[in-house]
Amino acid sequence: MKRKTTTTIRAMKGGEKVVCLTAYTTPMARMLDAHCDLLLVGDSLGMVLYGMETTVSVTMDMMIAHGKAVMRGAEAACVIVDMPFGSYQESKEQAFRNAVRIMQETGCDGVKLEGGAEMAETIAFLTSRGVPVFGHVGLMPQMVNTAGGFRALGHTDAEAEKISRDAQAVAEAGAFAIVIEGTVEPVARAITASIPAPTVGIGASAACDGQVLVCDDMLGLFDAFKPRFVKRYADLAPQVRQAAEEYAREVRAGQFPTQEHTFAPRKS
Ligand code: KIV
Ligand code: NA
Repeated sequence: MKRKTTTTIRAMKGGEKVVCLTAYTTPMARMLDAHCDLLLVGDSLGMVLYGMETTVSVTMDMMIAHGKAVMRGAEAACVIVDMPFGSYQESKEQAFRNAVRIMQETGCDGVKLEGGAEMAETIAFLTSRGVPVFGHVGLMPQMVNTAGGFRALGHTDAEAEKISRDAQAVAEAGAFAIVIEGTVEPVARAITASIPAPTVGIGASAACDGQVLVCDDMLGLFDAFKPRFVKRYADLAPQVRQAAEEYAREVRAGQFPTQEHTFAPRKS
C-alpha cells in the first residue's frame, strides 16, 4: 500500500478529521498504522520512553533512530518526525540541514517544529526547498524553561491573540498542517476557521480539523499522571504490572515453565 503524503493530509482541511497518534517503535507503528492518517514520531519520546522530565534533552540521533523504527512499521500512514530542541532554532540554514538529515536517514515524509511568528521565515525556507513542515503552536513543550512550566494558554486576550497570530504566520509560511496544543476551544475554533491548513489539536478541543494523542497516554501505558485532555482507550500499565507479578510468582514457585514450554529430547 502506498503511504499517505503531506499533500493528502493538507487536502483533508474541513473534510474528514485527521487522525494522528505518536509512535516511537516498529511494533507500535505496525499496530497503529492502518487506523491513522498520520504517525508522529514526537520528541515526547524523551519523557515517554527515556524517563526525561522534559523534551529539552532529546537529540537528533534519538529522533533519527526512532524515525527509522517507525518507518519500518508504517505502510499506509504519513510519517512525520519532530525536530528536537536546538536542531532548528539557530538559523533557517541549520533547520534545513537537520531537516534534510532527518528525511534522508529515516525516509519520513516531513518534519514538525515548534514555534509561531518567530519561526515563519524558517518554515518558508524549508517548505520552498522541498521539506514539508508540520507546525506546532500554543503550548510548546521545548519552551518550558522560558515559559515557566506547562500550562494551557489562551485564557487572556493577549495569549489568545498571540496563538492566533502564530498560527496565521505558520500557515502563511507554508506549513501543510499545524498542531495546536493546550488552548481553549474558542481560540482553536477561530484559528481553524481562519487558516487554509488543517489544525490538529491536543488539549485544544473538538473544533480542530483533527486530533493527536501520545499513544502511551491513550493506551494507559504511561500512567504516572493523566492530564485533562487525555482519554485512555486502554489501561495497559496495570496489565503489565499484573503479568510481571504473576510471572515472578510462578518462577519463584517452580510453576513456570511447565512441560508445555519445555523442549523434550528427540527420540533416537
Ligand atoms: O512530541 C509529541 O508527542 C508532540 C505531540 C503531542 C503533538 O509534539
Ligand atoms: Na513534540
